[in-house]
Amino acid sequence: MKGNIALIGFMGAGKTVVGKALAEKLHLKFFELDTIIERKAGKPIPEIFREDGETAFRNLETEAVKDISKQENAAIACGGGVVLNKINIKRLRQNAVIIYLEAIPEIIMKRLMNSGDGRPLLDSADRETRIKELLAQRKPLYEQAADITITIDKYDMNIADLIIKELKASDSIDFQK
Ligand code: S3P
Repeated sequence: MKGNIALIGFMGAGKTVVGKALAEKLHLKFFELDTIIERKAGKPIPEIFREDGETAFRNLETEAVKDISKQENAAIACGGGVVLNKINIKRLRQNAVIIYLEAIPEIIMKRLMNSGDGRPLLDSADRETRIKELLAQRKPLYEQAADITITIDKYDMNIADLIIKELKASDSIDFQK
């Protein structure tokens, strides 16, 4: 049985909000990989991309996953690109149930078109096309990595409760701790 929950999924899927809610409901510690990376780099993500490049960001991300995988009783909100490196998923899976928050493209699009700032990968003159391209590339990676997939098709769903139900049904996390 695993002691951690890792949330994966595309930018705008709600990993942070859901991760915090899960942590509260299940009495887990909450970690956000992006925040850990920013702390380690001493600067915000757009600056890391701009000054050091995406490869440097991905290296920091892999380091952060390595550190966080040692935690117990944790809800971990991962950045959308965590699935790009297989070692990240391998490390997360050692002690975490991996939950894929699959928000339908309409929801992703709406959220990111309105508030995609601070996300360097969306810096494009044609943000809509960029989002569609990235979604198409990433979808199979999220699907492969997921232990449990939760599809978000409306705004008012209580995702954290839905996840807890699935976790209990699958008997994959230790709720006693
Ligand atoms: C990224 C997603 C971002 C952040 C970085 C790269 C990605 O996190 O890690 O901008 O590659 O999809 P969120 O998914 O929390 O926005």
